[in-house]
Amino acid sequence: DGDVYKYYADGRWQKSASGKFVPIINPTTRKTHFKVQACTQEEVNKVIETSKVAQKLWAKTPLWKRAELLHKAAAILKQHRDPIADCLVKEIAKPAKDAVTEVVRSGDLVSYCAEEGVRVLGEGKFLVSDSFPGNERTKYCLTSKIPLGVVLAIPPFNYPVNLAVSKIAPALIAGNSIVLKPPTQGAVAALHMVHCFHLAGFPKGLISCVTGKGSEIGDFLTMHPGVNCISFTGGDTGIAISKKAGMIPLQMELGGKDACIILEDADLDLAAANIVKGGFSYSGQRCTAVKVVLVMASVADTLVEKVNSKVAKLTVGRPEDDCDITPVVTESSANFIEGLVMDAKQKGATFCQEYKREGNLIWPLLLDNVRPNMRIAWEEPFGPVLPVIRINSADEGIHHCNASDFGLQGCVFTRDINKAILISDAMETGTVQINSAPARGPDHFPFQGLKDSGIGSQGITNSINMMTKIKSTVINLP
Ligand code: G3P
Repeated sequence: DGDVYKYYADGRWQKSASGKFVPIINPTTRKTHFKVQACTQEEVNKVIETSKVAQKLWAKTPLWKRAELLHKAAAILKQHRDPIADCLVKEIAKPAKDAVTEVVRSGDLVSYCAEEGVRVLGEGKFLVSDSFPGNERTKYCLTSKIPLGVVLAIPPFNYPVNLAVSKIAPALIAGNSIVLKPPTQGAVAALHMVHCFHLAGFPKGLISCVTGKGSEIGDFLTMHPGVNCISFTGGDTGIAISKKAGMIPLQMELGGKDACIILEDADLDLAAANIVKGGFSYSGQRCTAVKVVLVMASVADTLVEKVNSKVAKLTVGRPEDDCDITPVVTESSANFIEGLVMDAKQKGATFCQEYKREGNLIWPLLLDNVRPNMRIAWEEPFGPVLPVIRINSADEGIHHCNASDFGLQGCVFTRDINKAILISDAMETGTVQINSAPARGPDHFPFQGLKDSGIGSQGITNSINMMTKIKSTVINLP
């Protein structure tokens, strides 16, 4: 089985003893494109054991040396930009240019992490005791940040490289070891990215990458007593993980239903451009995609017309041709999206375009006059289908946004900064963008979801801090 990609453990590329593989289906051709090893639970045990040992040594490696290795890995990652981007095209049907952007952004993220890490981790605190009632100045407290141990990183299919390094780099700079479980779609891109870290010369065992079926090693990994922290991005599996995981720090980003509120005084051209970019880039398969438009009824016709004329210009087809709209990741995902569309149809939504699907490829679709009784008003399609709900007041928009189980990001378009701030304060989401579509980046900005959208905050600085613990030493004077 020479054509099955090996997994990475103990500084080596290895075959699984299972003799089994997991096929990676190209979303465009719907044929098996790559195969990866189906690792066993015993192999996971071994990986975590080596990871533990490697971490102890790594924690003692000077911070500047850790940073140096990360900078090296970032440079190698950028050199390997094209083959990795090509994997993203084949495995997840990401448009060719976006695939390149993902890898470059990842290299930048790793470098930034190294720079931020030497500063954030390079200083501690010094406290004196006599500020608290009843104490003399007889205690001096020194604090520093220490690593957690073994960090388990589980990125999603939509950014198999970028959302892997956004976990790996902060973990490593902070002195942790990493066990990466890549998504099936995107596993080969992730393995290639790991190869860049291998080439940079990190100590063996510090970074591992295990592939396999979620049913075989998923729970086994997340419930493993040797894991000291989980950083997960994905769907509602995260909720299940949070219920099963032990008493360890969790960082989770679990999707969203990002609302876009358009007020009467908004720049409608700007709003339309952001709705199309925010709603349809990577065919809507982003947690931060615009997932529901809430527009004031008085400007709704104009806005919908502007959005429609931009939707008409979107190219639809193969990721290799860098089309705007490409096949969604799996057939079951396409079926799910279709289910939402049919429900909206049956309940009387206005179809601005004809619904069209070939295989996993779904043509971009704007659904107008969507009502709260339709599933698409609340559920996340993760596809190129965008509902428009007409509202009669900003409060109505805020109410819809806050009635969602999700709370990742939201956005508001208005020329009135006072209204924008009031609406931002009222929206129960981790971030509100004023006059732009939701987005995670720039990658050093804090990124967090409320409610079912997640636990903790990401962004480079927050991730570094989250993957450490405070350690105090108190000097007691006589
Ligand atoms: O879907 C993953 C989420 O993190 C989105 O990232 O950069 O597309 O806003 P981005």
